[in-house]
This record gives sequence, C-alpha cells and structure tokens, in this order.
Amino acid sequence: MIGEMRERATGDSGPPPHGGDSEPAGHDPLVAFVRAMPKVELHLHLEGTLEPELMFELARRNGVPLRFATVEEMRGAYDFSALGDFLRLYYEGAAVLQTERDFYDLSRAYLHRAYADGVRHAEVFFDPQTHTARGVAFRDVVSGIHRALVDAEAELGLTSRLIMCFLRDAGVESAAATLTEAMEYRDLLTGVGLDSTEVGYPPELFAGVFATARAAGLRAVAHAGEEGPPEYVRGALDALGAERIDHGVRSLEDPALVRRLVRGRVPLTVCPLSNVRLKVVPDMESHPLRMMLESGLVVTVNSDDPAYFGGYLSDNFRAVQRGLGLDRAQLLTLAANAVEAAFVDEGRRARLRADLDVYAETAPLGAAAPGGHGV
Ligand code: ADE
Ligand code: ZN
Repeated sequence: MIGEMRERATGDSGPPPHGGDSEPAGHDPLVAFVRAMPKVELHLHLEGTLEPELMFELARRNGVPLRFATVEEMRGAYDFSALGDFLRLYYEGAAVLQTERDFYDLSRAYLHRAYADGVRHAEVFFDPQTHTARGVAFRDVVSGIHRALVDAEAELGLTSRLIMCFLRDAGVESAAATLTEAMEYRDLLTGVGLDSTEVGYPPELFAGVFATARAAGLRAVAHAGEEGPPEYVRGALDALGAERIDHGVRSLEDPALVRRLVRGRVPLTVCPLSNVRLKVVPDMESHPLRMMLESGLVVTVNSDDPAYFGGYLSDNFRAVQRGLGLDRAQLLTLAANAVEAAFVDEGRRARLRADLDVYAETAPLGAAAPGGHGV
C-alpha cells in the first residue's frame, strides 16, 4: 500500500486524490505552467501531509483504532470552521505515527509528491511535542524525517531544511524541554518555529526559548497574524527575532507594520488554500495576497497542511491565480520571493534563482496563451 502510494506520488501528474480544484495538466496551460515552474516551499507541516490512505495504512500497521471507516468518510470530515477545529483532527490523525519508519514513510511520500509538483527546495516543519507527548522517542521522529530528506536529495536533487516547531498551547516549559532534547540533534535542524493555537498565546511568552535557540545558531520563524492580531506579528519580530512570518495575513490591518515589513524585506509565508479552509478569509476572491504583493511585501505561496486543505503547492498557486487574476509576472515574483527567503547558502540560492530565470525565459505560456488562460 505504501509502495503504491509512493508510485502514485512520483509518477502521477494528474489531480491529487483529495479532489481539490485540480484538473489534468493537459486541459489548461496555466496548470502546466505553474506545475513545471521550479518552486520553493517554505511553510509545510509534515504532519499535515498525512493523506487518509497513508493514515489508514499506518493505523493498520500499528494497531491504532480510527474513528472513520473509510478514507472517503475521513475526507468528508475535513470541513473546518476555524483553526482550532482543524487542529483537533490534525493531532488526532498524527497518533498513527509511532515508529521511525512511519516518519520516514510520511516524509518520503511528501517529498516525492512535491518533486512531481515542481518543488525543488522545501523547508519543512515538524511538531515533536505532538509525538513525544504520546511516548514516541524524539530520536525516532527526527531520524525518520532526516533519513527521508537525505534520500530525497540523493535520489531527486530536492534540497530541504528542517524546522522544529513548538506548540504554543503546550506552554513555555514544554518548549524549553523540547529545545534541550533537540540539542543532541542540533546538526539536523536549521531553525525553530512556533505554531498551533495562536490567539491567547502571544509570541512574548516564548522569548527566552527562542533566544536560546538563536544563540545555538538556529534560525527563527513563527506563525503570527493567521488568526491573531498584527501585534503578534510585531511580537514575533521583536521578542522572537523571527526572520520570516508564517501567514502574517492580518498584518494588513496595521499600515505601520506593513511599512516595517516592506522596508525590512521580511518574508511572509502565506498559505491561500489553508486560509480559505480555516475561514481566515471568506473565499479566494477576497484573499489579501494580491494586495500584499502590490504593497511591496515579500509574499510567498505555500501549502501548510495540504492533505487537509485540498491542495499541494501548484494547487495553491493556481487557486490564487484564478481567484485574484494574477498575471504571469506576479506568479514568477511569488516564486522568486521564496528563493530569496530560503535558508540556503548563496550557491544554492543562485542555482534556484537561475533555474527560475531560465524557466521565465523559456516557459511556453505567454501573454496570449491558447484557450483563454493567458497569464
Ligand atoms: N499547525 C499545522 N497547521 C497550522 C496552522 N495553519 N496554524 C497553526 N498551527 C498549525
Ligand atoms: Zn502552518
């Protein structure tokens, strides 16, 4: 079964099984343009890539009971009213992940799928506390993920970075203990992040933990301004030293903050399908991404938890293109912003940038593409 999933992840250029708004590449030149565009993903929770098929397989392998009888029934429950609603299901689903091999299989499935979707570099999050709280060894979590990242680079040339997120609602002491435990694996990590329930857990609570992480040379990112107010974005910058803001869509409510983000070229990792599914915005047509881009913000497009939100990276690009009428130059700017914002050395950045430049010059879809989908 997992072997079958891997084959589908690597070999299938058609729509994903979740039935998002994808359509076969052959029918729409924009689909092919976006999918073939070399892309960088900067906001992706590995636990959020757990497709129901793999969840059922791991549940069977590990003898974990599931509330749903079929994958269809499970997908049918993916109808969220807000972030908290989603997080309950997301943590419940993660309980099937128990062994080093499970984390390897999860990560490998995502990486092969992302590669087929045109992703050339991925900076991925994991939430160790979700697993250690259930008695899974930290070592098994990080080792399974790391092994898959190494294999994907060797087999596919897909480079990656690993970012460990603290769960805001697990509290500061748990975050500090998790960071201490992680230090044994310091070399496998590029950075730390902050996720889970946002409102009620301002960034300032975690200032000390992030200071320790940064002193150890780890990069800092934080979810802020998804459901929380613009003050949380300021807090992430000032108290945590965040170099990128994950989401940050509510920054637009504070013009002075927008000016600061623009001036500092602080990247925002925006996740359009996630924002619609979690009712951060009412629909794609009202998504602020276009306004953010036109305000001069360093906006990037990402998929957050694609198994739950109806689409991987190309699906997110295509959804904003359709919903907001973005043109070809704007799509390329979004992709270039992610190259600029990646935690890579300058050699890798130059390579990613050059690949995108070549694509921009040679990609077939022009201003007057056949079929009325010119971008
Ligand atoms: N964990 C996984 N997805 C998340 C999101 N969109 N916001 C906060 N925490 C998360
Ligand atoms: Zn996220």
